[in-house]
Amino acid sequence: MQTRPAGASGLTLPVLGVGCFAFGGGAYWGEQSQRDVDEVVAAALDHGVNFFDTAETYNGGASELALGHALRGRRDAALIGSKISPDHCYRAEVRRHCEASLTRLGTDRLDLYLIHWPLNANSLRHYTADAARLARPPEIGEALAALDELRREGKIRHLGVSNFGAAQLAEALATGVPLAVNELPYNLLSRGIEPALLPACAREGLGVLGYMSLAQGLLTGKFTSLDGLPPMRTRTLHFRGDRPGSRHGGPGCEAETLAALAALHAAAADAGVALGDLALAWAIGQPAVTCTLVGARNRAQLEANVRAATLPLSPAQRAELDRLTAPVLDRLGPVVDYYQSPTDSRSW
Ligand SMILES: NC(=O)c1ccc[n+]([C@@H]2O[C@H](COP(=O)([O-])OP(=O)(O)OC[C@H]3O[C@@H](n4cnc5c(N)ncnc54)[C@H](OP(=O)(O)O)[C@@H]3O)[C@@H](O)[C@H]2O)c1
Repeated sequence: MQTRPAGASGLTLPVLGVGCFAFGGGAYWGEQSQRDVDEVVAAALDHGVNFFDTAETYNGGASELALGHALRGRRDAALIGSKISPDHCYRAEVRRHCEASLTRLGTDRLDLYLIHWPLNANSLRHYTADAARLARPPEIGEALAALDELRREGKIRHLGVSNFGAAQLAEALATGVPLAVNELPYNLLSRGIEPALLPACAREGLGVLGYMSLAQGLLTGKFTSLDGLPPMRTRTLHFRGDRPGSRHGGPGCEAETLAALAALHAAAADAGVALGDLALAWAIGQPAVTCTLVGARNRAQLEANVRAATLPLSPAQRAELDRLTAPVLDRLGPVVDYYQSPTDSRSW
């Protein structure tokens, strides 16, 4: 598997990484067997796809547990990234949460540890209803100082952030604590980071982890209508705000999304490849993204994604896919937080 350096951090990552959000199963993704997790992880390692992205919050810790189980005996062949939730970033709490993740994962170190969402009340509200916490979210300086202490002890190899906009990134970098990556949404229908944030990360020497590369399955073409999508997957700004679980309250841009999907289907048919393969090859072909994360539910999906990672995409094909999806980008703008309305965004 091809690799890329994560900015100036010294960390090198495969261009394709395994998203472990569904590991452990739960309300969001439904049932996920440990047997499939074990097979996905083993096959990924065999293919050199050795980066695994999890978080303490994924399925209440079950994702970390499942990943740790699957990595038994092969821990040293893997790079593990986990994330701390924003409401756990108070100075006195960081260590406890990091150590709990280490225990669940059955390891003594995290290769990458990220602050999952920016530290503000809008962000915390998603994790806690505690009025005192909402009134005083953790400060980035205290969070990074506590995390840096754990880095110096060797419990964390590299630190990073996730969903941080350019201003929040600048504030984090001003603390002087070294950051390796910013993890951000990136797929053909979610290109909001292209105009400003990707160049800002590159300027600052940060790598980028791209998440939701298949738009949670929509870009595989397996859903024939938006109404057929599982409810938790229709909460982004692309979809009408009155769909179940949605928080943005806006009109969405379903017409543009459906038109782009139809055009992408035609482009994939012309190229003689599956839509999902084309979408993944496009995401991986973005040189400003170090590692593209995809959530594979079973070995077959993982193998297909590995094949897509080597699919050649000419500059002309890439430009055409950019053109076909530009109406969605134009409509949604330079968004980082695809779940909340621009006036209520957690990222800026
Ligand atoms: N930092 C953050 O805030 C954040 C937010 C979201 C995600 N992430 C990370 O990014 C990772 C990837 O994002 P994601 O899992 O949300 O979405 P995704 O990778 O875009 O989509 C995953 C879904 O796509 C389908 N899929 C994957 N490979 C397939 C294949 N070859 N053929 C057919 N379907 C395939 C599966 O759907 P089915 O379940 O229908 O089979 C799978 O559940 C996550 O696992 C997580 O690690 C981070």
